[in-house]
Amino acid sequence: MPGDFMNFGSGPHFAADNTIKLMGKSVLVTGGAGFVGSHLIERLLGQGAQVICLDNLSTGRLSNISRHAGNDRFTLMRQDVCDPILIAGAVDEIFNLACPASPPKYQIDPVRTFKTSVFGAMNVLELARRKGARVFQASTSEVYGDPEISPQHEAYRGAVNTFGPRACYDEGKRAAETLFHDFHHQYGVDIRIARIFNTYGPRMCKDDGRVVSNFVTQALMGRDITLYGDGSQTRSFCYVDDLVEGFLRLMASDVAVPVNLGNPGEFTMVELAQMVLDKTGSSSRLVRRPLPKDDPRQRRPDITQATKKLGWAPTVALSDGLDRTIAHFAAELGRPSCQTATLMPEAAE
Ligand SMILES: NC(=O)c1ccc[n+]([C@@H]2O[C@H](COP(=O)([O-])OP(=O)(O)OC[C@H]3O[C@@H](n4cnc5c(N)ncnc54)[C@H](O)[C@@H]3O)[C@@H](O)[C@H]2O)c1
Repeated sequence: MPGDFMNFGSGPHFAADNTIKLMGKSVLVTGGAGFVGSHLIERLLGQGAQVICLDNLSTGRLSNISRHAGNDRFTLMRQDVCDPILIAGAVDEIFNLACPASPPKYQIDPVRTFKTSVFGAMNVLELARRKGARVFQASTSEVYGDPEISPQHEAYRGAVNTFGPRACYDEGKRAAETLFHDFHHQYGVDIRIARIFNTYGPRMCKDDGRVVSNFVTQALMGRDITLYGDGSQTRSFCYVDDLVEGFLRLMASDVAVPVNLGNPGEFTMVELAQMVLDKTGSSSRLVRRPLPKDDPRQRRPDITQATKKLGWAPTVALSDGLDRTIAHFAAELGRPSCQTATLMPEAAE
């Protein structure tokens, strides 16, 4: 279990009354127009924060945040996180979420994906250093690669292929964690790092390419449900409201090392597909396709640290979360797909 680097010490690291004090704080959320970021912004605004959302709208959508247009505590900065971030006035907290998260999207332009993770981390850390802000990194279970142990705890160093199609994302996120570590130790920047496991919920794009959105959209449209490999590979699925609660607790804590956030419930892809079929009443068939390269066989978080130090555990069962997600996708079906134009590779000079 956790070695020195992961030594959390003893006792809770989160205020006993669970109060997260955000009233009047100025909070920057990069990637705030995306799936997770838009839910986070809603919680932050609901708790009285001033929120700046920085996003280049490459995989995010204006419709995810347009409800805040008249709110004078909300500002949108349309900017790439790879460019230096200049903000006048105070910034108390930064949540760095800017990065495409779905494999088909981050693989369209792998160099840009890597730059987004690394240059983005550098820019938010420089900003945090200048402003004296606390800064949170949305890291990922992908730092564990195709893991040899299950469940994965934070001290596990992972089995990542540096030379494969997923490496731009996995290694970009690993390098970002290193930058967070080094800014903390070298410059005293106050950091938080969440290693996020598969999360789902309303506002995922229907063409997102991740398994929940794929299965639900295919079932609702009566199309074949695509199972990669024999469908026995497992994933755990965390409902987005649970994840955002974990973000806020981690940010309000004093835990400056990576913490897993995810739902330890483990399901095979066949089980997930069957649940989706039952809930939608769809007559879609299950069809098998070859397993993509470097697709992890198994994914399940060990959340002992989040529970002990943050008093956090997921509360939404997959069945309930799927009901809410299916309702979202049913309403989305007639609408245009998510914007992907700016994800196209940059033109050669
Ligand atoms: N959803 C998950 O299951 C999951 C799992 C692990 C980690 N994460 C991490 O959480 C974060 C949010 O994921 P999500 O599921 O909401 O993805 P998403 O694609 O919906 O959101 C990402 C947001 O970042 C923006 N963005 C991308 N590149 C940018 C750039 N260069 N400059 C500015 N903005 C940029 C996009 O427009 C989008 O609004 C990501 O960092 C992702 O790696 C998510």
